[in-house]
Amino acid sequence: MYICLEGIDGAGKSTQIKLLEKWLTDNGLDVEMIVEPTSSPVGVLIREMLQNPRATEPDFQKTLGLLFAADRMILKDKIVENENNPNNSNKIMLSDRCFYSSLAYQSPFEWIIEINKYAKRPDLVILLDMDVKTAVSRCEGTDQFEKESFLKKVKKNYLKLAEKEDFFVINANNGPKLVHHDIKRVLASHLGICIEGIID
Ligand code: TYD
Repeated sequence: MYICLEGIDGAGKSTQIKLLEKWLTDNGLDVEMIVEPTSSPVGVLIREMLQNPRATEPDFQKTLGLLFAADRMILKDKIVENENNPNNSNKIMLSDRCFYSSLAYQSPFEWIIEINKYAKRPDLVILLDMDVKTAVSRCEGTDQFEKESFLKKVKKNYLKLAEKEDFFVINANNGPKLVHHDIKRVLASHLGICIEGIID
């Protein structure tokens, strides 16, 4: 299974994904972590470019869109390899972001779909939905005002996608413990027999 956590910057994905990995492995599941942008040369370039003060400008975002799509193609081999390995029938690939980040952050929508045509779609997406002001206050550097208006658009895009693509939406404004609990509930009911009975 390929499971992805999505959310705006500062929504608490990194904390939740660590808690989730521990919970799944503690309960005997084989978990492989994926992070986008990846550590490939393209991913490294993306992280460097994200530091640019012009990063939220439309043309810059288009360049990033292309790079994210390329980074995702490099990652695809690993996902397909895992899926095709008969020893991996119980393996969970747990991803910090995926194709849907590009749909929420970059534009235009149809073009992003086109350049990501060959990217793997996750089996399940959990969206951490957080108040933009709170999320921005957790982000370091950059122009806070610019960041806030940018993330407002991203949040709106995520919520539209969530409806269209059946994401599980979790209220991430609650403390980390409660959010973790809500995520476990979603996974337990979705994975059914696989992890039934291990919720505390
Ligand atoms: P993030 O997971 O927030 O990184 P970190 O935890 O290191 O802060 O992702 C880095 C940034 O990349 C974030 O601002 C979202 C952005 N991003 C896109 O704009 N499009 C994409 O397709 C992806 C995967 C990420």
